[in-house]
Amino acid sequence: MRSIFRDFSSDFFPILTYPREKWCEFWREYRKKHRILLEDYSRCNCLSEERERELLLSFSRKCIDMLYLSWTKEIREVKAFTLERIGSIRKQLEIEREDFTIHLVCALGITEKLFVRTLKTYVIMIDPVYIWTHSSLDEIPEIVVKAAQDYRRFSDMVVTTRLSQNEKQKRLNRLLEIISDDISNQNMKKRLQTVAKLLDHYVEYYDWTGFYLAGEDNTLFLDTYVGEPTEHTTIPFGSGICGQAASSKKTFLVPDVSLEKNYLSCSPKTKSEIVVPILHQGRILGELDIDSHRLNTFDELDNEFLGRICDLVAPALASKGESEDC
Ligand code: SME
Repeated sequence: MRSIFRDFSSDFFPILTYPREKWCEFWREYRKKHRILLEDYSRCNCLSEERERELLLSFSRKCIDMLYLSWTKEIREVKAFTLERIGSIRKQLEIEREDFTIHLVCALGITEKLFVRTLKTYVIMIDPVYIWTHSSLDEIPEIVVKAAQDYRRFSDMVVTTRLSQNEKQKRLNRLLEIISDDISNQNMKKRLQTVAKLLDHYVEYYDWTGFYLAGEDNTLFLDTYVGEPTEHTTIPFGSGICGQAASSKKTFLVPDVSLEKNYLSCSPKTKSEIVVPILHQGRILGELDIDSHRLNTFDELDNEFLGRICDLVAPALASKGESEDC
């Protein structure tokens, strides 16, 4: 069987050879070693450098010592059992599609797993630190199997730039249904969080997804988002793509942000952007802003789909002042 499961946990334990005040130095080097995975880990969890530092230092030396102890005692057996479990359901996982691998990579203990798109395939990143702090390392085989099953379902739903328009339309329709079901019983804040998370998760080329809400003084305020933290947390109407979309109440689809004069850069990685206003009875309530790290990536299908997403959240936003829940 192709080796689809790899353990990189041991790369993390040299942290124990550093004095605690130098852990951040270790982390910087370690982060370079697992750059693609750990960058996406930070992006999905909206972590700034400062927040990463805080999370790292929230662990005591004793805590990492104990993790290392469990790991040395159990990892051999855990790995063997994980391989056995994966082998037993290889048909169900359609392993021969060769579209994913599973990596155990120690991170900051805030997410159990993450699907990370790399150049050719997906890596299912599993964080032993999370597993150890939330249960125990002998749960790894079952967590890996569950993650691989989740990935297989995800792989048939994920929206990529490689799909035909027909397939893309189908998948966006399905995603709209999932989002609509998931948010139906949620309050306004939770709705926005769920929408941002699901869009980020299921659409491969949405690299920053966030909601700005309109304040009374013609200013946009950043609410919930998934992606790298941005300095543009308040934007006056008229300023940047977001501000222009707010003042004109029109969608802005920008295939190449480098050609825009009135543009506020959140990240040098951003190449294209779409901003869709959230309107209710002609009033602007806020907007959905999506950045992509690829050029010319949003099309009419995205435009229409995101318009429908905004229509879904508009009523809850319109009544936010009246609801206790918000
Ligand atoms: N690029 C936007 C600012 C918001 S960030 O993309 C998150 C603009 O030009 O308004």
